[in-house]
Amino acid sequence: MEVCQMITVGVFDSGVGGKSVVNAIEAALPDIKIVYAEDKENVPYGTKNPDELYRLVLPILNMLSKQGCDVIIIACNTVTTTIIERLRLELPLPLIGIEPMVKPAAEMSKTGIIAMCATPTTLQSARYAWLKENYAKNIQVLEPDCSDWASLIETDQLDHEIIKSRIEEVCKKGADAIVLGCTHYHWIEHDIQMIADEYGAIVIQPEKPIIEQLKKVLSQLS
Ligand code: DGL
Repeated sequence: MEVCQMITVGVFDSGVGGKSVVNAIEAALPDIKIVYAEDKENVPYGTKNPDELYRLVLPILNMLSKQGCDVIIIACNTVTTTIIERLRLELPLPLIGIEPMVKPAAEMSKTGIIAMCATPTTLQSARYAWLKENYAKNIQVLEPDCSDWASLIETDQLDHEIIKSRIEEVCKKGADAIVLGCTHYHWIEHDIQMIADEYGAIVIQPEKPIIEQLKKVLSQLS
């Protein structure tokens, strides 16, 4: 792990979603220092427009940069899919973005139907439209209504019955790959997978690939 020593990684999300990503990074790369930043005052981000997000996020990332981070992980699909390119223009360090795993889900689907659980802003973003156009052209992408899930998870109020009804709905329509396209939903991955198991569907989320990406970026820094 010598490549990671003395390295500081900033991780950012609107709220608790990014903490699940932090846990995964800490488990995989115990020698790096992680500085976590969130925006509790303004969570949820998933109903905000790109300009509002930019105004909120840029100062926080500047602060992480000033705190000595070598790289920042945007552990927020909503921010990545809407404003990461604008942020990259302003920040002097690499930004790694977490975005909806359309491509892997499309590749692993046997039914040709996948489900994307994500925030309204992510689902409306041009980047998400591009991912579907380029990687899921002949795939049906179902988008269950998860619009209030991030807020409910933030306050620990998401009811199992709500999760069950949304996940069963897409499984019954034939989705065999379910993407967690919002890091807040990582906290209910186990619950979602238990429901999906009854239909033989797989649940995917980006922690492992993002750690691989982080290792790659860190090896280029040293
Ligand atoms: N966790 C974030 C995401 O991955 C944002 C959730 C929210 O604040 O609405 O999209």
